[in-house]
Amino acid sequence: MAKPKVVITRKIPAAAEERAKQLFDVTLNASDTPMDAAALATALREADGLLPCVADKITAELLATPGRKAKIVANYGVGFNNIDVAAAKANGVVVTNTPDVLTEDTADLALTLMLATARRAGEGERELRSGRWTGWRPTHMLATQVHGKTLGLIGIGRIGRAVARRAHHGFGMKVVYHDPFPLSEADAQAIGAERRDSIEAVLAESDFVSLHCPATPETKHLMNAARFAQMRKGSILINTARGDVVNEGDLIAALESGKIAGAGLDVFEKEPSVPAELTRMENVVLLPHLGSATMETRVAMGMRAIDNLEAFFGGTAPRDRVA
Ligand code: 8YV
Repeated sequence: MAKPKVVITRKIPAAAEERAKQLFDVTLNASDTPMDAAALATALREADGLLPCVADKITAELLATPGRKAKIVANYGVGFNNIDVAAAKANGVVVTNTPDVLTEDTADLALTLMLATARRAGEGERELRSGRWTGWRPTHMLATQVHGKTLGLIGIGRIGRAVARRAHHGFGMKVVYHDPFPLSEADAQAIGAERRDSIEAVLAESDFVSLHCPATPETKHLMNAARFAQMRKGSILINTARGDVVNEGDLIAALESGKIAGAGLDVFEKEPSVPAELTRMENVVLLPHLGSATMETRVAMGMRAIDNLEAFFGGTAPRDRVA
């Protein structure tokens, strides 16, 4: 029997590409050039399955491509806001994601941003590299303590829980959270997380606020001017979720007014574009969407997406089906 045709939109680690080659008649993207809408439409017409990434917008229009052959979109990533899931359902296209395998790395990166922002690591490094460091002095670059402070989590899914565990057990932080789906008493106790009834209650109590909710129509601009006003003066925002969750204009205003003391951001509203105001702020740490960017995890994400494709083409239910 002929192997199913699969298009992988971007270069993924070699070990995953090798496995895909064994299982599928696969089209790789050796040059790693982003595919435009026309190229994605061609892929959907010619292949049985597509393996896209966060930067590929799989729109309703694309999913309704006349003559579309592809019946599965196996996203490389846990977030799938790049895919119009309602349109996929309407068009009978299966969508899968890659949960679990990137949880710990993304939590590590949230902590990286929290520490780097609070302890002024980016600013210190820029000072040193530019030759402006004049030597040790007792009042040099004094920062905000992290350990023992209160961390507020918006969303307590897999990544939120992994962040809570690190913060509570590793840094002795008090952890509070809000999520429409509360943890069981036992789970909450194990990671030292206390539930609050509302986002507002979390914001009012937290020295650090870290976002761990998916990007959905409901969470779009969840952090807006009103919510920044509810944060504690001098607190710090961390975002490793999705740029859409934060109104960047309102974030800039909250930073400029001094309402919040800093932000650590791995994701942006219009990636790869980052507002110039943010790039000029010393109290902001900016990373280029690196949450899951370790070799181990990027291989595991590839394998997980391939597992989903293999199951689908083998006639069984892919374990990570989201639509
Ligand atoms: C990936 C992510 O870099 O999985 C996610 O949701 O944001 C990241 O881990 C990205 O999705 C790759 O497509």
